Amino acid sequence: MSPEVRRMWLGAIIAFWVVGLAAAPALCEETEPVELDVPYVSTRPEAVEAMLKLAKVTSKDYVFDLGCGDGRIVVAAAKDFKARGFGVDLDPQRIRESNENATKAGVTDRVKFKLADIMVTDVREANVVAIFLLNSVNLRLRPRLLDQLKPGSRVVSNGFHMADWKPDKVLRHEEAYDGVIYLWVVPAPVGGTWQWKTKTSEAEISNSLKLEQQFQALSGAVRFPNQEVPIAEVSLAGKQIQFSAAPRIAEKEVKIVYQGTVEGDAIQGTQKWLTGPSAGTYPWTASRQPLDITGRWQVRAPERADNNGTLRIQRKDKSLLATYVRDKKPQEELALPAFYVWGSSIRFEIPSDRTGLVFTGSLTADTGSGTVSGDAVEKQTRWTAKRVAEK
Ligand SMILES: C[S@@+](CC[C@H](N)C(=O)[O-])C[C@H]1O[C@@H](n2cnc3c(N)ncnc32)[C@H](O)[C@@H]1O
Repeated sequence: MSPEVRRMWLGAIIAFWVVGLAAAPALCEETEPVELDVPYVSTRPEAVEAMLKLAKVTSKDYVFDLGCGDGRIVVAAAKDFKARGFGVDLDPQRIRESNENATKAGVTDRVKFKLADIMVTDVREANVVAIFLLNSVNLRLRPRLLDQLKPGSRVVSNGFHMADWKPDKVLRHEEAYDGVIYLWVVPAPVGGTWQWKTKTSEAEISNSLKLEQQFQALSGAVRFPNQEVPIAEVSLAGKQIQFSAAPRIAEKEVKIVYQGTVEGDAIQGTQKWLTGPSAGTYPWTASRQPLDITGRWQVRAPERADNNGTLRIQRKDKSLLATYVRDKKPQEELALPAFYVWGSSIRFEIPSDRTGLVFTGSLTADTGSGTVSGDAVEKQTRWTAKRVAEK
């Protein structure tokens, strides 16, 4: 048992003895034991309020609580923030309590509770997801959250993080578990090559931008007619993208700040040329050629040659799923539950002897490349890929 699970169980046992004894007859009625991923411990009321405020919940939001306990987060979202809410829990007792609490608060018209497993719950309709689970459980949920939630949706967690998906905000709060609440904003998928034309007061030029994405972290470069310059001061918050670039134009460095809103394969915004003869604010309308990455990719990692193999990406319903078959025997097809796609940028983990290898990078129409890392990997190495015909 990991230390985080042990601490949670300890909290749950204390809560059971302090609060639960009074309700002992009701608890004893339970016949079916439920196997939970996380024990029941409720978020303190002050922390509930802080979580909903941090997520900026309004009457336009649909708030899901995955592992809703007695429904307090969903009920507070409906009562105090006028949002709609949906809670799921695997324990029937918790669902009964949630429905009672919704009735007491007079919000049954705006909230619903369901007896279900969070690992198979569809979250596409949510735009705020609240969780109080465990680091390990958050990690298992992470692919589903990033695949199903719309860009700009918020995920707020009492006490537990999401490993290398870094939070967009961290709130220290003494009533929160471990004194901390995390907030993530689901990033728009922007990996790929974007193109636009810029008409300044002096000239009309063509630009392109190559972006590589891992969660909300971006790197890349803007191409000007005779130079390529790296982007700096980059931020991606949901659909809002911003960065600067400093090309040399007519012997002078010109700083340009780009700001826009991403909608699928289009960005609309402004570019501010801060210095030089073309200084001024111009529209920034960029588009990206859609890229279909489904198919089979032969992956080569020269310094991890044991892991050379074939990555297969398939579309199922609205999601992209991946499997991996190593070249070396026994050549079994491994499902890759932690497969992420942001436009042409990808990230996947293949289990190896000890912990696992993380492949990050990007694909073009028929090639791919990136780096291999992992907890037990001292030095990052490279991988390349090329598209191969479907069998
Ligand atoms: C730490 S409690 C959080 C309760 C509530 N969200 C809150 O903050 O007060 C975790 C809840 O998740 C539920 N749970 C654990 N594993 C689950 C699973 N696989 N599917 C649905 N609910 C689960 C437990 O029954 C428990 O009520």
